[in-house]
Amino acid sequence: MDYPIFHLSLLGDRFLFVVIAILHTIVNHGFAIGLVPIISIMEFKGFQTKNSEWDELAYKMMKTVFIVTTTIGAATGVGIWFSASLVNPNSIASLIRVFFSAWLFEWVIFVSEVALVMLYFLTWKKWTLGLDKEKHFAFGYFLSIFSWVTMAIIVAILGFMMDPGDWNEKHTFWYGFLNPIYLPQLAFRTFLALLLGGAVAQFLIQIFTSKQTQIRIQATKFVSIWILVVAPLALCAGWWYWNCIPDLMKSHLSVALGTIQFQNWYRLIIILLISGVVFSILLAFIQLIKRQFNFAIALYALLVIWLSASLGSFERAREFVRKPFIIKNYMYANGYKVEDYPLLQKDGILKHASFVSTQEITPDNKIEAGKNVFLLACAQCHTINGLNSISSNFNRMYGSDKPWNRNAMHQYIKSMHNARTYMPPFPGNDKEIDALVTYFKVIQYAPDPDINTFGYNKLSISKDENQRLLELINAKDSLQSKLNK
Ligand code: HEC
Repeated sequence: MDYPIFHLSLLGDRFLFVVIAILHTIVNHGFAIGLVPIISIMEFKGFQTKNSEWDELAYKMMKTVFIVTTTIGAATGVGIWFSASLVNPNSIASLIRVFFSAWLFEWVIFVSEVALVMLYFLTWKKWTLGLDKEKHFAFGYFLSIFSWVTMAIIVAILGFMMDPGDWNEKHTFWYGFLNPIYLPQLAFRTFLALLLGGAVAQFLIQIFTSKQTQIRIQATKFVSIWILVVAPLALCAGWWYWNCIPDLMKSHLSVALGTIQFQNWYRLIIILLISGVVFSILLAFIQLIKRQFNFAIALYALLVIWLSASLGSFERAREFVRKPFIIKNYMYANGYKVEDYPLLQKDGILKHASFVSTQEITPDNKIEAGKNVFLLACAQCHTINGLNSISSNFNRMYGSDKPWNRNAMHQYIKSMHNARTYMPPFPGNDKEIDALVTYFKVIQYAPDPDINTFGYNKLSISKDENQRLLELINAKDSLQSKLNK
C-alpha cells in the first residue's frame, strides 16, 4: 500500500462511497439522462403547435433539472472520484492507467455537459424566436447526448471492474473498454434512466400544472406513451444484463444487500425492479384511459421513490457482487494485486506499506502492528465496532461470553477466502496473522486502541501500553477459562 490509510471507524469506508454513488446515480439517471430528452421534446412540441403552455411547462421542468444537477449532481459526481480515491486509492490508480485517455475525454465531456446545462437553461427566455429558438433546441439535444456519453464512458469502467474479460491477457485500452458486461449494462442503465426520467416528469407535471387543464392532460399523455415504450425495453435490457453476470457473482447476491442474516433479501432487488417497471406501466395505462385520477401526485412520487430504490439497491448489489475483487482477477477489494500475493505472503504486507507506523513486528509494537494489518487488509469492508464490525462477526462465531479462541481465529483468517468466497485471501504472512489476532483479542476486552490512521510512521501505542494490554488479555483469558471449568 503506497498511500496513507483512510478509515471511517463507525460507518465503514464503503458506506461513504456507496451513499455518494447512489445519490449521484439517481440524480444523473433520473434528471440529466432521463428527463432532459423529455423536456427537449416538450419544448419542440410547443414550438410546432405554437402552444406556449408546452414551452412554459418545459421551462419549469428544466429549472428543476438545472438546480438539481448543478448542485447535488455536480457535487456527488466529483465526490465519487474523491471518495473512491480515499477509500481504495490502489484501484483508482490502476483504473487511471487502463483508462488514461478516457479519463481526459470524460472530463471534456463533463465540462461541456455543465456548460450546456447553463446555456440551455439561461438562454431559454432570451432566444425565443426564429433562428435563435432553433439554436436553443440544439442545446437541448446536445445536452441529452452529452449526458448520455458521460454515462457511456463511466459504464465502461464499471463493467471493466466487474469483468475485464480478455483484458487480463491483452492489456489494451479497447479490450478494457469493450468488456463483456459493457453493452448489456449500458443498455440497462439507458432504459432505466429513461424510465426514471418519465416518472420524474409525471411528478413534476402534477406540480407545475393545474387540475383539468388541457396542458396537464396532453403532457401526461405524452409522458405515459414515453413510459410505455421504454419500460418493456428496460425489462429486456435487465434480463440481458442478468444473463451476462458471472455465476459466482450471482451467488454473492445473497449477501449483497443485507448481511448474512438477511440472505433472502437478494430477491428484493429483482422484485423491486420488476414491480417498479410493472407499476410504471400500470400508471401509464390508467393515465391514458382516465386522463386524470385522484392522488396522482402521491402515486407518481411513490413511483419515483420506488424506481430510485431499485436503482440504489442495484448499485449496492453491483458494488458487492464483484467481491472478492475490485477488478476481477486482477486486484482484490483490499487493493492488493493478485500477482503480488506470493511476494506479500512471504514478506508480509507491513514491509511494503509506506505509511504505517510499524514495518517490522516486535513484541513491543505487536498490538499496533495488528491494527495496521487490520487497516491494510480488512478495513475496506469491516470496522471494529461499527458497520459490518469484526467484533459482531467474531461474537457470532465464537460467542460474546467466551474468549475468542486464538488458534481458531488464526486458522479462520488463513482460509477466510474459502469460508466466505466474497472475502479475499489474507494478503500477509503468518506473523502478521498472529499480530492481527492479538489485536482482535484486545478489542474483545478493552476499547479499541485509537491509532492515528494518518500516522506516518509514528507509533501511537507506547511500549508500556502495549505491555499492559497484552497482560490484560492473558489475564482475562485465563480468568474466563477458570470460570468455565
Ligand atoms: C472484500 C471485503 C472484505 C474484506 C477485505 C474482508 N472481509 Fe470479512 N467479511 C466480509 C463480508 C461482506 C462479510 C459478511 C458479513 C456479514 O454478513 O455480517 C464478512 C465476514 C467476516 C467474518 C464472519 C464470517 C462468518 O463466517 O460468519 C469474519 C470473521 C471476517 N469477515 C473477518 C475478516 C478479516 C479478519 C479480514 C481481514 C484480514 C476480512 N474479514 C476482510 C467482507 C470482507
